[in-house]
Amino acid sequence: MTLAVEFENVSRHFGAVRAVDGVDMAIPEGAFFAMLGPSGSGKTTCLRLISGFETPTAGTIRIFGQDAGRVPPNRRNVNTVFQDYALFPHMTVQQNVEYGLMVKGIDRRTRARRAGEMLGLVQLDGFGPRRPGELSGGQRQRVALARALVNEPRVLLLDEPLGALDLKLREAMQDELKALQHRLGITFVFVTHDQGEALSMADRVAVFSAGRLVQVGSPAEVYDRPRTRFVADFVGSSNVLPPALAARLGGPAQWASLRPEAVRIVAPGAGRIDGRVVALRFLGAGTRVAVAVAGPAGAPPVVAFAPAGQPPPAEGSPVGLHWADAALHLMEGE
Ligand SMILES: Nc1ncnc2c1ncn2[C@@H]1O[C@H](COP(=O)(O)OP(=O)(O)O)[C@@H](O)[C@H]1O
Ligand SMILES: [Mg+2]
Repeated sequence: MTLAVEFENVSRHFGAVRAVDGVDMAIPEGAFFAMLGPSGSGKTTCLRLISGFETPTAGTIRIFGQDAGRVPPNRRNVNTVFQDYALFPHMTVQQNVEYGLMVKGIDRRTRARRAGEMLGLVQLDGFGPRRPGELSGGQRQRVALARALVNEPRVLLLDEPLGALDLKLREAMQDELKALQHRLGITFVFVTHDQGEALSMADRVAVFSAGRLVQVGSPAEVYDRPRTRFVADFVGSSNVLPPALAARLGGPAQWASLRPEAVRIVAPGAGRIDGRVVALRFLGAGTRVAVAVAGPAGAPPVVAFAPAGQPPPAEGSPVGLHWADAALHLMEGE
């Protein structure tokens, strides 16, 4: 397997701020690789380290096996779609897309042809003469994409590219980006703070917290077998059970994660534990049911997800909760 990008114990500190801290990471060629984490967890800094706009304070980055420390940004074969698109407002769409080729000294006719092809690829045929200010958010997003892809990068870095779009458009663009990556076959490194987006688009997900890479795996691995409380909580909502409660439920005294959709509401006495419904939240596709269970003081309610079509229990009513053995996932650490 060829690796597009490798981080070997990479850090980027700014004074006392450890923006990126001892990260080891391998991004396979052709992957749709998502870097997921809350704001400030070091995602953008990682992208800047890959593109060469930032240099590590420690560690080694390799791009297609070559030590990137010796390769200037413009020779890395990597392009970025920036979070704010960073289009040139005074230039037309056509000029924006041609820009990278112009810098490389490519002749006018070739530039025009390749930019036209890219605008076609992102479904913006005919938009060349407009200026960015005359486009919708989604269209600007596509121009930014075309402007990066025209350079034929082997790795495309995307920094929260869909963050500014409304939900419907974001979902449409998610499908389009996925199809585009499939068609081009190049490596996408996609930064997002939206766990649903990372899980649904990527084939590998790397979860960041405070500059550290806390877990990397397939979406299913990260979702079903979170290594830490942080991952369980950040990647989808989960019941994070303290050791005392896990022990009372028959497992070892260890932090455990239990996904709400794995919890079934049954009659009192018919499940693994009994409790009382303390809160209901309607979510459209179903209802989130919070159940206070007898247990160690301070233990949070256990949340179950009751799918639509199965009427949720009333608030205050006694219920039993049941789940399959495999649903209770024990975590390694804090
Ligand atoms: N040039 C810089 N100087 C000082 N601190 C920085 C600089 N760039 C980023 N940081 C800090 O590094 C941390 C990680 O930032 P960033 O990589 O932008 O996170 P993310 O993209 O995950 O939101 C933040 O605390 C941020 O304030
Ligand atoms: Mg960022």
